[in-house]
Amino acid sequence: MKVEALPVIQGEHNLLNYAETYGQFDWKDAEKVFSWSETGKVNMAYEAIDRHAEGARKNKIALYYQDGTRKEKYTFKEMKELSNKAGNVLKAYGDVDKGDRVFIFMPRSPELYFTVLGAIKLGAIVGPLFEAFMEGAVRDRLQDSGAKVLVTTPELLNRVPVDELPELKHIFVVGSNVEESGKIQDFNKKFEQSSKFLEVEWVDRNDGLILHYTSGSTGKPKGVLHVHNSMIQHYQTAKWVLDLKEGDVYWCTADPGWVTGTSYGIFGPWLTGTSNVIIGGRFSPESWYKMIEEYEVTVWYSAPTAFRMLMGAGDEIVKAFNLSSLRHIVSVGEPLNPEVIRWGMKVFNLRIHDTWWMTETGAQLICNYPCMEIKPGSMGKPIPGVQAAIVDDQGQELPPYRMGNLAIKKGWPSMMHTIWNNEQKYESYFMPGDWYVSGDSAYMDEEGYFWFQGRIDDVIMTSGERVGPFEVESKLVEHPAVAEAGVIGKPDPVRGEIIKAFIALRDGYEQSDELKEEIRQFVKQGLAAHAAPREIDFRDKLPKTRSGKIMRRVLKAWELDLPTGDLSTMED
Ligand code: PRX
Repeated sequence: MKVEALPVIQGEHNLLNYAETYGQFDWKDAEKVFSWSETGKVNMAYEAIDRHAEGARKNKIALYYQDGTRKEKYTFKEMKELSNKAGNVLKAYGDVDKGDRVFIFMPRSPELYFTVLGAIKLGAIVGPLFEAFMEGAVRDRLQDSGAKVLVTTPELLNRVPVDELPELKHIFVVGSNVEESGKIQDFNKKFEQSSKFLEVEWVDRNDGLILHYTSGSTGKPKGVLHVHNSMIQHYQTAKWVLDLKEGDVYWCTADPGWVTGTSYGIFGPWLTGTSNVIIGGRFSPESWYKMIEEYEVTVWYSAPTAFRMLMGAGDEIVKAFNLSSLRHIVSVGEPLNPEVIRWGMKVFNLRIHDTWWMTETGAQLICNYPCMEIKPGSMGKPIPGVQAAIVDDQGQELPPYRMGNLAIKKGWPSMMHTIWNNEQKYESYFMPGDWYVSGDSAYMDEEGYFWFQGRIDDVIMTSGERVGPFEVESKLVEHPAVAEAGVIGKPDPVRGEIIKAFIALRDGYEQSDELKEEIRQFVKQGLAAHAAPREIDFRDKLPKTRSGKIMRRVLKAWELDLPTGDLSTMED
């Protein structure tokens, strides 16, 4: 298919010549921006906040925060002091030491950011949990990680099954007049009383920083461990891809429960000393445009689902706001439709730059840059310092236009360090030739642009969120009416995919719409709203292999009216 390329944007970009930089760049040189490359004293939170607070950016706004009830701003100096205070609370009352897992389960608020940074300053490993998680999801993650400390809010506390978490020693509740008992402590009260001075714990570059749980097609969510060394790539991509510069006001719409909300909602912007806008609360097209106008946002990082929703809200709304501050728009998480790019050109007069990466990769890998032509529908080209290829199932590189596994040569700085408690799973990501295999299929064109084709496994991307079908199926079969369940992603024009469940009922249960709704609510309450199937079909029997594995591929073929393919392994 021939696509109309969008021309290079002329101007003073951080990355001026892609091909030349790609040829010359070496990660060893990139780490020299950090004094730890000489001193050996490494800590992400120091580099992101304290370094600026002790220098020329001390009175620069680091954080603009707003939600339905709060509107606040903090300089780098204030961020340093407030994260020190949070660190002191965790240390004095939570006994937090280097390597301990500190989980954060709360909606976005300034305290969330103080706490994440404070925990990192102690050398702890932070586990951010999305606020929509229900009890089952919270339990799995806290248990697997052996979390010692949890920071949460009064509203979310009842989703924490304290009795089932023997390793969890301290729970800090962020709120006013929290009743303290047992493990539960009043965060705010202790925060008020804490000192704003804290000695940063210097760690090794390969010490744990953050643990993001993410879904695969089998098994429970797995803990992807990232280390302080990632900062090299967070910094470098914030420069090249987000193109952040001194005067920028940057807004990343992702929640820190997901990797985009940490790598590019916390680390990337602050490592580069950028003013970072964080908006809590609910999404509406009006409120989003209003935020861009109010903060004069210059660089905006969001996701295709959000852009499609804005597109669906119509072009008239855009005109009601002054969005002239915007100069650079970036997207991640799902395929960015050419139609959305064309819409962006029309309403913002800007290109939307797609970026590809994953929780496991820690930072952007294949991207579009201001200095590069964009081919709408393509994810772009690998960042300098990164080698990407399409390989077959033996790890052999395939020529242009052949579809295969999207793979990255091992060794980029932000690559996951391991899978928590599951080294075997970690090893399973790699193929001969030191290729990290993403699980995505793609092809490369003759100019080196990569084109996403789909997931190779059954992982579902719904509204930019990654959902493992197994986790949903496991929850479904916990419902007394459900004998068997198979879950697939069904293409959806706005959300990318929606979750569709096929269910065989136990004897004695009648199919009904009420039952569908009850089952939906069951998943919503037990797991998370975004994991609940939007569509449910009852079937007498589900297609299974002889070993009893549900054949999602066949379910998908049923749903989409496609050929079912090889059925030789299916039970009679
Ligand atoms: O399938 C790819 C899709 O999102 C997956 C990774 O999901 P997660 O770990 O939750 O991280 C999302 C944000 C970093 C990938 O395997 N994906 C991510 N970016 C793109 C994408 N699919 C198409 N185009 C993209 N730009």
